Amino acid sequence: MAAATAKLQEQFDAGLTTRPDFTIDQPYERYSAADHAVWDLLYRRQRALLEGRACDAFIEGALRIGLNVAHVPSFEAVSERLMAATGWRIVAVPGLVPDRIFFEHLANRRFPVTWWMRRPDQLDYLQEPDCFHDLFGHVPLLADPVFADAIQAYGRAALGVEARALPLLARLYWYTVEFGLMREPNAPNGVKIYGAGIVSSKGETLYSVESAAPNRLAFDLDRVLHTRYRIDTFQKTYFVIDSFAQLFDALGAGIESRLGSAARLIDVAPHAAGDVLPGDIVITRGTREGWPAGDDM
Ligand SMILES: [Fe+2]
Repeated sequence: MAAATAKLQEQFDAGLTTRPDFTIDQPYERYSAADHAVWDLLYRRQRALLEGRACDAFIEGALRIGLNVAHVPSFEAVSERLMAATGWRIVAVPGLVPDRIFFEHLANRRFPVTWWMRRPDQLDYLQEPDCFHDLFGHVPLLADPVFADAIQAYGRAALGVEARALPLLARLYWYTVEFGLMREPNAPNGVKIYGAGIVSSKGETLYSVESAAPNRLAFDLDRVLHTRYRIDTFQKTYFVIDSFAQLFDALGAGIESRLGSAARLIDVAPHAAGDVLPGDIVITRGTREGWPAGDDM
């Protein structure tokens, strides 16, 4: 939280104006040589690591929207390419925005991207999303038509969800958009990466697809809505989708039927992050090695 406050102060000092929808103009002149160098280094490192580990749509999307540059990309240039591909654009924001504002942006095919870059001493771990996580992690797949529609469907459906169901919505987003894997029969452990929290992290890129420690379970909407997660460590469990079409169904009609205004919420105690239940379709059962004790979210 302290870092976020400092960033807002820096922004205030720089005279950047935040609009009511929390967007700003990307203050390109404020990027330092160190910011550009961090983008270049992280881009090249993740690009090499993701070869053969991330799904093809991610790799192709990153190139298609022009992220393969040696400096922080211009949001306008990315938006132009993205608009041509799927009608989405990206908007600069100071950091995390309130839930409802975020959903409004997604429902209108605008993805909020934090404008500032992490420092050179934060390459491997950052508590809050920065430009590299938001842009490199989230935006390449928005060039895929089905994924792009799924995220818009999520924004629309989320706008119809009551506040008390928001934690369930957060679990779904976490286990798909942030930490989702997809079936890939020819890959090690039968999976490839599509989640933004994984593709933007060196450690979790390797861990999620190669480690024997975590569970990899077939995605099931109700299961995910009632499963807690880790915010401080790698995931104990990854949920694996078959296709972006399955994701589209879950993030749109699925949310509406389970969490929409007319839905009756099931008041069950959520499962722990590392549980494997009798009804699960297990792709790999984790060895639990190195799993941290302590509370899940
Ligand atoms: Fe994210």
